Amino acid sequence: MENYKKIKTAADYVGGLLPGKPVIGMTLGSGLGMLADTLEDPVEIGYESIPGFPVSTVKGHEGKFVYGGLSGRKVLAMKGRFHYFEGYEMKQVVMGVLLMKLLGINDVILTNAAGGINASFSEGCLMLITDHIGFIGPSPLRGLNIEELGPRFPDMSEVYCRRHIAKAEECAAEMGMDIERGIYCYALGPQYETPAEIRAMRILGADAVGMSTVPEAVAANHAGMNVLGISCITNMAAGMVDKPLSHAEVMETTERVRGQFMEYIKRIVKKLEV
Ligand code: HPA
Repeated sequence: MENYKKIKTAADYVGGLLPGKPVIGMTLGSGLGMLADTLEDPVEIGYESIPGFPVSTVKGHEGKFVYGGLSGRKVLAMKGRFHYFEGYEMKQVVMGVLLMKLLGINDVILTNAAGGINASFSEGCLMLITDHIGFIGPSPLRGLNIEELGPRFPDMSEVYCRRHIAKAEECAAEMGMDIERGIYCYALGPQYETPAEIRAMRILGADAVGMSTVPEAVAANHAGMNVLGISCITNMAAGMVDKPLSHAEVMETTERVRGQFMEYIKRIVKKLEV
């Protein structure tokens, strides 16, 4: 089936199960899925029930959409996302965010866990993504262009919405919380980077590195959506500290900062101008 029709079929199915219209979409990264469990009057839709939708394979990543109330707004959260390293095609990686678009959502919050490359960062800090380096991986827009969504050669001058970044900074200030800003560099994974790769990324201007978000952000921007990207710096990147990287450490840090991160997202959802 043509890709657009496939997304439309999935979106029509999900839309048919929702009692209202979501205004903000969210993709919850490693360890942050719990936020979806706090939505009011939740409606859950497992990915496996959606026609043509991929299914999540990562341990600890449940695969479902959760619709519900958050800070007085209706949101649609993806609990569990698709990563290229799992074996999915880029088209599948971005299907969730495009489904949101077809449901009428124009504003999306993408969260992730990332390694810190900027030496002034510390484990557990949060970073607003101001731009990304994504030419490391294939484009989610490769193939026949979906004209219904956007142009063949889309501009990427402002993938991360400046208005939303400013609002997110305001929210951090209101909470008395430190917030970093920086450039997220995409890594295909699943292996963590080598110290030499991290040095190369630093030379290119990266502040953080991670294995998600960039494909979704590119697809969302192509489709005219406003993106807010937030990284939780779960560890300092390879070679910056004298210890091996592990998924356990990533999960430990997300667990430690989860409470604050969730409060932050709640405030952002309340204040975002959509
Ligand atoms: N590298 C890539 N992805 C990550 C990292 C990292 O150091 N930490 C969390 N996700």
